[in-house]
Amino acid sequence: MSTPVPVLTIDGPSGAGKGTVSRLAASRLGWHYLDSGALYRAVGVAASWADLDLADPAALVRCTFDTDVRFSEIDGNLRIFVNGSDATDELRLETTGTLASAIAAIPEVRAALKERQRAFRREPGLVADGRDMGTVIFPDATTKVFLTASAEERARRRHNQLKEKGVSVIFDGLLREILARDARDAQRTVAPLKPADDAVLIDTTGLSIEEVVDRVLALVPARAG
Ligand code: C5P
Repeated sequence: MSTPVPVLTIDGPSGAGKGTVSRLAASRLGWHYLDSGALYRAVGVAASWADLDLADPAALVRCTFDTDVRFSEIDGNLRIFVNGSDATDELRLETTGTLASAIAAIPEVRAALKERQRAFRREPGLVADGRDMGTVIFPDATTKVFLTASAEERARRRHNQLKEKGVSVIFDGLLREILARDARDAQRTVAPLKPADDAVLIDTTGLSIEEVVDRVLALVPARAG
């Protein structure tokens, strides 16, 4: 009997370091990588391009089915194409994250993205990053991690990232946005942000990225056979 393709899920609130840790872990394991937040962000961007009303869930669900998202590595950089256009920069904006979080609260949108996310599970393995990877999308994952960090630390990291990109934002405003987005993600009725019962919690406050990656990889069993 063939063994299932191994999956490492990395869930947690925004700014806990999931993206960087997941990409590095995938590269060290030689596994595929799923950035599930990018799918919700892509639907948000497509909805805003089409000028859809956020109060019209039926239109947003149709948009979810119709939105084509492609991940391509160009000159060593991951670029994300939405309906054929390179939307990488727009996808990263804090406003896109907030839009994604509003859309992600609609149960039919989540259902529409379920199989698309599961299709990323291919040999030799998958690192999946998001909010509900270990609870809903890959409940049978081999290893589940939940990354946290204090809200101030997460806002500080986001602030530094944006500063490096030449985007100037006010720290207090960023902290407020992060707290509001976390509250919405944690309080929604469908697939709320919470650790799976069998997830290992890692508080990344004060840890370097390398230290976190090492701790995460130490949890992944070597594959037999
Ligand atoms: O992880 P990222 O910040 O890109 O996610 C953007 C938003 O998409 C989150 O705030 C959350 O509302 C939603 N999301 C989700 N489930 C996931 C990944 C992201 O609801 N698995």
